[in-house]
Amino acid sequence: MSTASLANLAVAALAGPRTLPEGASSTAPEVDATFFLILYIALFFFVAIVGTMIYFVIKYRRRSPGQRTSPSEGSFKLEVIWTVVPAIILVILFYIGFKTWVRMSVPPQEAIEVRVTAFKWGWEFQYPRHSVSQKELIVPLDYPVKLIMSSKDVIHSFYVPAFRIKRDVLPERYTVLWFRATKLGTFDVRCAEYCGTKHSRMITRIHVWPYKKWRKWYQKGGPLSSVKNPIELGRLLFDTKCSPCHSAEKSREVIVGPPLYGIYGEKAVLTDGSTVTVDDNYLRESIITPQKKIVKGFENQLMNPFPELTTKQIDALVDYLKTLGHKGAQPVPPPMKK
Ligand code: CUA
Repeated sequence: MSTASLANLAVAALAGPRTLPEGASSTAPEVDATFFLILYIALFFFVAIVGTMIYFVIKYRRRSPGQRTSPSEGSFKLEVIWTVVPAIILVILFYIGFKTWVRMSVPPQEAIEVRVTAFKWGWEFQYPRHSVSQKELIVPLDYPVKLIMSSKDVIHSFYVPAFRIKRDVLPERYTVLWFRATKLGTFDVRCAEYCGTKHSRMITRIHVWPYKKWRKWYQKGGPLSSVKNPIELGRLLFDTKCSPCHSAEKSREVIVGPPLYGIYGEKAVLTDGSTVTVDDNYLRESIITPQKKIVKGFENQLMNPFPELTTKQIDALVDYLKTLGHKGAQPVPPPMKK
């Protein structure tokens, strides 16, 4: 019997009623088994020690004001027992924890790699074979996935409750995390490190697809396979890189930065009181050097530049932004009058 199925059995025996989110990765049964083992050992000793204490407090209570405590002596036997037994338990717990930790820390060689970029306030996933990154991660069932993570700004933490995995994501350094999903479906990803005012918005999803379906999608080029023209490419890029902070909706909700619906061709008031016409050049400049001309009312917001964007991608983004509210979009030209 494999360790994983043993761990599964142990969880089923120990867990009882559902107390944790559904476990959906290969590490989940081991983590849960270790957790419940520690919990039940702690519970046993808590009841045994506090129970004995309460029993003694009642049994040996002072019955009259003149009653004196009977003299007590140390017991070598008792001291050996309460030293050796906990020591053995701790060594066993260390062994179980260490084995699980080693398995969680060393990604299998065949693992597929994904780059994870955390930023204030969102996640970006990039498969090395794909030319466009994604806001949500799509992975195959029952196949190891290795995440190579870094942050654009402050410390974040990549946390998937259902997979029982979590690791800090740091600026200017890579950290690695891996998992093998064991259930089809969609699972939440959270940021588990307080990273500023919109920390609680740093939520995304992992979609687990059947291996065959995933492989087909992956080979076709992922999200890019649906791209037909620059506007569509711009929409995809916007969704990943801009939508965590900028609304493209008609409601013009302020998420973090200025809403971008219907701004093309309008005048924008800047922090220094001057105005600028929102045209192709201004949009491009604001993507490349966001700090240069900041719209009034958004003084304190920090937008990082996107050095990874190619000229073609910036053009596509501008093309897409022009379609919001259709003030800059080129409609199909009318038929020529004779
Ligand atoms: Cu990122 Cu909290």
